[in-house]
Amino acid sequence: MKNDICKMLDIKYPIFQGGMAWVSDSSLASAVSNAGGLGIIAGATAPVDYIREEIRKTKALTDRPFGLNIMLLSDNAEELARVAVEEGVKVITTGAGNPGKYMTMWKEAGIKVIPVVPSVALAKRMERAGADAVIAEGCESGGHVGKLTTMVLVPQVVDAVDIPVIAAGGICDGRGIAAAFALGARGIQMGTRFLVSDECTIHENYKNAVIKAKDIDTVVTGRITGHPVQVIKNKLAREFLKLESSNVSAEKLEELGRGALRRAVKDGDVDNSSLMAGQISGMVTRKQNVKEIIEEIFDEYEELRKSL
Ligand SMILES: Cc1cc2nc3c(=O)[nH]c(=O)nc-3n(C[C@H](O)[C@H](O)[C@H](O)COP(=O)(O)O)c2cc1C
Repeated sequence: MKNDICKMLDIKYPIFQGGMAWVSDSSLASAVSNAGGLGIIAGATAPVDYIREEIRKTKALTDRPFGLNIMLLSDNAEELARVAVEEGVKVITTGAGNPGKYMTMWKEAGIKVIPVVPSVALAKRMERAGADAVIAEGCESGGHVGKLTTMVLVPQVVDAVDIPVIAAGGICDGRGIAAAFALGARGIQMGTRFLVSDECTIHENYKNAVIKAKDIDTVVTGRITGHPVQVIKNKLAREFLKLESSNVSAEKLEELGRGALRRAVKDGDVDNSSLMAGQISGMVTRKQNVKEIIEEIFDEYEELRKSL
């Protein structure tokens, strides 16, 4: 199903694998790109040399386009903005901030810039700054979340901007794709379902926790620190929520959360860690390879389309 997003990015299916801190490396990103989607390496707070190496590894593993996600408030953002150009990255997605100051450099390098937005106001600002598309991410998603649901956010962003909108948050099958398209999106971004893919290099304990999670097993912690995060409920999340309701300082909470995602991803600690995953975890029940996932959900979508 080639649409305008596929044509813009030279991909077969209009699906992005969301940049995921500590998670989306060359293994996952190249698998998604090879399967016809857009794989995205997460810049997060990683050392710049490590990301440069991951970009090079991805290039060795796929000749398809892939992207780099840059968290604009991270210390590495400025350098990563340049590394992307030097290494010939084709697509940049951005989070947490305004990419305006890098836009000229990226555009001159022919890079497509696609910011993640949680609101209409930011979507409009990104369009004015020269973004090629925006990813409207609802608060069902795993990781850092905004306030609005995908259902509410996507159509409002679609109405507010003229550039294509990619829907993210709470999508994991053909029904989700159909719903996103019905809301006016031109593509989708998934994170949580790719967490359990064979090519995702996170610890098996983390994958099993996602598979075990039921519909109401995720919670949002960190609302009072201003950095709300959707995670699977575990010991640390419960401790967080208890402290949040006891007026503890934001600094103390930040301290508690430090290194918590790494403990899940690398050590497989499912108790004292941040098991970032979306509300859709309840529907993610099987480990599969990336190609199977992508083909399955687009087959489902095509089947569904006939009956709509
Ligand atoms: C473990 C994890 C880490 C994430 N890290 C980032 C990140 O570094 N940058 C970003 O823009 N989004 C991040 N996200 C959000 C994803 O890119 C994606 O938009 C989201 O997972 C889509 O919603 P879903 O989880 O319901 O599929 C993360 C999500 C997860 C699950």
